Amino acid sequence: MTRDAVLAILRQEMGYVSGERISSLLGISRTAVNTAVKTLRAEGYEILSATNRGYCLGQVPDLLTAGELGVYLPAERMTSVHCMESVDSTNNYIRDMAFHGAPDGQIVIANEQTGGRGRRGRTFESPKDSGIYLSMLFRPQSLPSDMPVITAWTAVAVNNAIEAVYGIRCGIKWVNDLLLNHRKICGILTEMSIESESGHVEHVIIGIGLNVKEASADFPEELKRIATSIAAETGQSVRRAQLAAEVVKQLDRMRSMWPHAGAEYLKAYRADDITVGQELTVVSGTEEKPGTALAITDDFALRVGYADGSGEVLSSGEVSIRGLYGSR
Ligand code: BTN
Repeated sequence: MTRDAVLAILRQEMGYVSGERISSLLGISRTAVNTAVKTLRAEGYEILSATNRGYCLGQVPDLLTAGELGVYLPAERMTSVHCMESVDSTNNYIRDMAFHGAPDGQIVIANEQTGGRGRRGRTFESPKDSGIYLSMLFRPQSLPSDMPVITAWTAVAVNNAIEAVYGIRCGIKWVNDLLLNHRKICGILTEMSIESESGHVEHVIIGIGLNVKEASADFPEELKRIATSIAAETGQSVRRAQLAAEVVKQLDRMRSMWPHAGAEYLKAYRADDITVGQELTVVSGTEEKPGTALAITDDFALRVGYADGSGEVLSSGEVSIRGLYGSR
């Protein structure tokens, strides 16, 4: 696309470049250059222009487009990264792509979800221009029984990405919520499809929702006590494309190490975990049972002890840590 090519030149030049030079580099007319500049300005790119000097790229908007992701990821990787302005759910969209033969590692990223899904049938608030809603398709040669730990691996992978960009690590609340200052900034929803004849995993969809730029006022009343964003907690405003690209890199690394790097991911998970030692309530169906989190086992399960001396090892499910949210 001419727009992408013109933007690439403006980025490379890091200063003024004449319309004539752009048109000769790309072999297009001056009118086509002007049209591309207009399109970019309409998208929010600040493009300064000066007589006899040409154009110069100023402020770049915080977009989650292929063009912006491509600044941080190689062109080869971008061939299986699909960026969308709005979608009901990136997990739904990539599931359709999976059934149409999308490759292992396919990524879908959206700037907004109108039907974002969370765990246990909940909705995941996905307002536009502030978060990252990202799904990856994974086609491992694994049995379904090997897969539950992938959610915990993903929590570590996302935390690695956050550390690479912001220099901080979040706490992980078992099994896969990332928290900053006692509030949630990331949720992960993993969905698996099993081949009925062989019983093998057909594919796994890993969906990640990151609150990046929301202010407290942006969350609905019932979430204000529970959710926050990375910008609200750190004061750092990072380009979402940079963070999204780092998440893609970390997910690629995770895929390449699956399933042999369990020890590394377990060590990181235990170091980031904030659940062990806490008083919690184990939620199963409609039942809620108070207990204490005792340990993360070698397969990322949670060992819980109850007041009557009994105990349980939870390999999936949900716990709520008493007094966790809003305690600041
Ligand atoms: C949770 O915290 O309950 C999990 C939230 C997972 C949200 C992500 S956003 C990208 C992907 N698409 C969805 O509809 N859900 C996941």
